[in-house]
Amino acid sequence: MKKVKIALMGLGNVGRGVWMILNSNKEEIMKRSGYEVDVAKILVRDLEKDRYVDVPKELLTTDFNEIINDDSIKIVVEVMGGIEPAREYILESMKRKKHIVTANKMLLATGGDELFEKADSEGVMFNYEASVAGGIPIINGINESLTANKVEKLYGVINGTTNYILTKMEFDNLSFDEALYQAQEMGYAEADPTSDIEGFDSQYKLAILSSLAFGTKIKVENVYREGITKIESIDIQYAREFKKVIKLLAIVKENDGRLELRVHPTMIPQNHPLANVYDSFNAVFIKGNAVGDLMFYGRGAGDLPTGSAVVSDIVSILRSNIDIDNLNPVVKNNLWDKEIGSIRDITSKYYIRLTVEDRPGVLGEITSVFGGMNVSLLSVIQKGIDNDNENKVTLVLVTHYTKEENIVESIDSICKLNSVYKINNLIRIEEFN
Ligand code: NAP
Ligand code: HSE
Repeated sequence: MKKVKIALMGLGNVGRGVWMILNSNKEEIMKRSGYEVDVAKILVRDLEKDRYVDVPKELLTTDFNEIINDDSIKIVVEVMGGIEPAREYILESMKRKKHIVTANKMLLATGGDELFEKADSEGVMFNYEASVAGGIPIINGINESLTANKVEKLYGVINGTTNYILTKMEFDNLSFDEALYQAQEMGYAEADPTSDIEGFDSQYKLAILSSLAFGTKIKVENVYREGITKIESIDIQYAREFKKVIKLLAIVKENDGRLELRVHPTMIPQNHPLANVYDSFNAVFIKGNAVGDLMFYGRGAGDLPTGSAVVSDIVSILRSNIDIDNLNPVVKNNLWDKEIGSIRDITSKYYIRLTVEDRPGVLGEITSVFGGMNVSLLSVIQKGIDNDNENKVTLVLVTHYTKEENIVESIDSICKLNSVYKINNLIRIEEFN
């Protein structure tokens, strides 16, 4: 059996999963790849930290030079996260003809071009299956198995942490903070969970997926983003009354050659397959013009699911019999130029929750603002008085399909009414038409 030496950069949640899989599935990996994979070095920040896995201490190092200067190390696995020094270490490793596997969506989405070009120019492989949707083989699915299709739409629940939080708020009555704490304990959240809860992580992932699915370069800043921090239990309860579920949904649609790209909390019908994706599970729903509707489903975060994607990337390098002088230089994400639409141009239904003064005529004032902006209301619900203030009531409005621009301008005017205390939330409704 041939041996190959690899190095891990990072031994946190994902690094630990990679280590465990390489050990527990050693035989499967040997038979499938033709190699015995030997972890020769592991880069960490703190040599004394408890690692919760049986890693020989002598493998750990805080010195990247021990990896870069060892020519016997052929593959470097970057599971440390962040931009620097991950970017610098990957570029340096490529320069030394080491193949790369990474799970780092932030780096890929914001600086991927430089890395892809360097990989091509150095003739090394650069695999990143774990960067989107954890254990789901979505990158290979799009890159290899869907190439016969023109993708029309893609919808994804692609952040495990926020999906876990929303699930726990809905079914276990946990507060947002309690559910986030649990997601961190389970190893789902990013080192800084702001990335999860404010939607940045999904924004990076959607930029990566859309670049591949639509064969174009998507800049992160072209993906509209909102997180879930404004979602309250009451919104989840109202959603249930409307037979809907709230998900942090990543959406890309092509309309007449123009892409609409957005990540935001969304109410979706209870009977859509994406509504039944709970906990840390992720799913990506794709409509291709040949294949029709397709859904990928699985664990989107956590040590072993993510480790599964990382290790399969290692195996795929070992199975490729790569000829470093003869790499296929096709860059897969710059085949077409596409126009990117603004969020103001989208059309959607909207759920709007407001706190207003409890007196006759208030509803009329609000509905006449919407009427003036051509926004038609599908339903209006007013339930009881605010517990803290007898003069306040909660009003919930649902609109028919309307342009976002009209909603934004209506809300601007409604905010100025003396009878309106607060716009508590505005959630888009997706019906997958
Ligand atoms: P983590 O638990 O925070 O682990 C990061 C590891 O990298 C730690 O071992 C840390 O060392 C090491 N590290 C960080 N900066 C370093 C530096 N400057 N020098 C040396 N070592 C450094 O992170 P994670 O959850 O495993 O995530 C790692 C990557 O995978 C991120 O890009 C993340 O977005 C991505 N990802 C995570 C998941 C998931 O479910 N967690 C899923 C898919 C993708 P110490 O241990 O010594 O501090
Ligand atoms: N923090 C990420 C999530 C990890 O919760 O989905 C997987 O990319």
